[in-house]
Amino acid sequence: YGTAEINKSGHLEIGGKDTIELVEKYGTPLYVYDVALIRKRARAFKQTFEKLGIKAQVAYASKAFSTIAMLQLIKEEGLSLDVVSGGELFTALKADFPVEKIHFHGNNKSEDELVMALEHRVGCIVVDNFHELHMLHHLCQERQQVVNILIRVTPGIEAHTHDYILTGQEDSKFGFDLQNGQAETALQLAVESKFLNVLGLHCHIGSQIFETTGFILAAKKILEKMAEWQTSLGFTPKVLNLGGGFGIRYTDEDTPLDPAHYVEEMIQEVRKATTRLSLPMPEIWIEPGRSLVADAGTTLYSIGSSKEVPNIRKYVAVDGGMTDNLRPALYDAKYEAILANRANEEPKDLVSIAGKCCESGDMLIWDLSLPDVGTNDILAVFCTGAYGYSMANNYNRIPRPPVVFVENGHDQLVVQRETYEDLLRLDLPFTEKTQHTS
Ligand code: LLP
Repeated sequence: YGTAEINKSGHLEIGGKDTIELVEKYGTPLYVYDVALIRKRARAFKQTFEKLGIKAQVAYASKAFSTIAMLQLIKEEGLSLDVVSGGELFTALKADFPVEKIHFHGNNKSEDELVMALEHRVGCIVVDNFHELHMLHHLCQERQQVVNILIRVTPGIEAHTHDYILTGQEDSKFGFDLQNGQAETALQLAVESKFLNVLGLHCHIGSQIFETTGFILAAKKILEKMAEWQTSLGFTPKVLNLGGGFGIRYTDEDTPLDPAHYVEEMIQEVRKATTRLSLPMPEIWIEPGRSLVADAGTTLYSIGSSKEVPNIRKYVAVDGGMTDNLRPALYDAKYEAILANRANEEPKDLVSIAGKCCESGDMLIWDLSLPDVGTNDILAVFCTGAYGYSMANNYNRIPRPPVVFVENGHDQLVVQRETYEDLLRLDLPFTEKTQHTS
């Protein structure tokens, strides 16, 4: 994975930094990010578009991992940014992210969130539904402000991990349906509003997708509609945003394509379709989250207790679990791991890695081969960079781990470890007065 190596002491090294030294300095659990790998992934997407001579924007879907330092890094790499809430927008503003490169998503943006986006003049708002369309028009009218928008459409394609099925009418909470006239009505209303400047259309067909078929089908369906609307509405959007969802390899079961490959095939097909339909080539925007950060992140845990269930299995428990990585419990997600302190030793034991939460479902990895593992060994779980920290929680009042960035042999703390005091920061005591009146 990335710049991960085994050093002379037999320790796992990431970004030129010995992970055992990181554990000594910061403790466990600990999220470690390989900055060089994030840069490499970001550049690969950008360079593919440049090579193809396509006008494009690559927006990082910050829901995958949003912290001030991460957004500063994305800014440094010249990407745009996708935010989906006031909180993510606030983080972007604190990171001094260029507002004109921020795209604001969400299927139920509140009035306050829209006002915040308008006040800070974000680059565009991705309008999801009629309620939002009306609210945004009225807010802009009140403020006498014009805002750039994309219209989010559901193209009627369900993408799954390894396959896809066509659904006539997509059953989704997101976007305007492309098939039943909703999308056309929305586009017409938006084009008629003098406060909404329609840049283009957006779709997102799913996440952790391994094929280009779904993306291509979605693009074709949208372009065909665009050709119809060119006649019916006399309007052709300039931007086609094909969303994120490019898959990555968590274990050998996963067979993703190279990011450049997704982009190249998509562009080729869009080119063909636009020629066939006599449409101008649109600007292509994408918004990868997972594929930019997942394999750059590794979580380090200390091994604590273990339990042998004779003839069945051995449970080995770590000092974290579903509080720092919800994905196994929520999606049955699979991960690979090794012992970071004995990275060059041959696997001997078949063990199952348990978290520390009071919940039987808090299992990080079932049936993992490790050297004869014991208390105080350090477990490194790979590919936890996306939707790990961002979905971390305080179940069982467990504090969230810190985040460290490593690059060229240097480490930098970018999120501090949560303290017990932090956990209680919002709690207020039950007062005497309340007791008397109740
Ligand atoms: N754009 C839109 C509109 C999205 O809804 C998403 C993800 C993305 C982009 C980025 O997708 P990515 O490239 O990261 O696949 N928590 C789940 C993933 C939820 C994805 C939601 N939307 C997980 O841990 O697998």
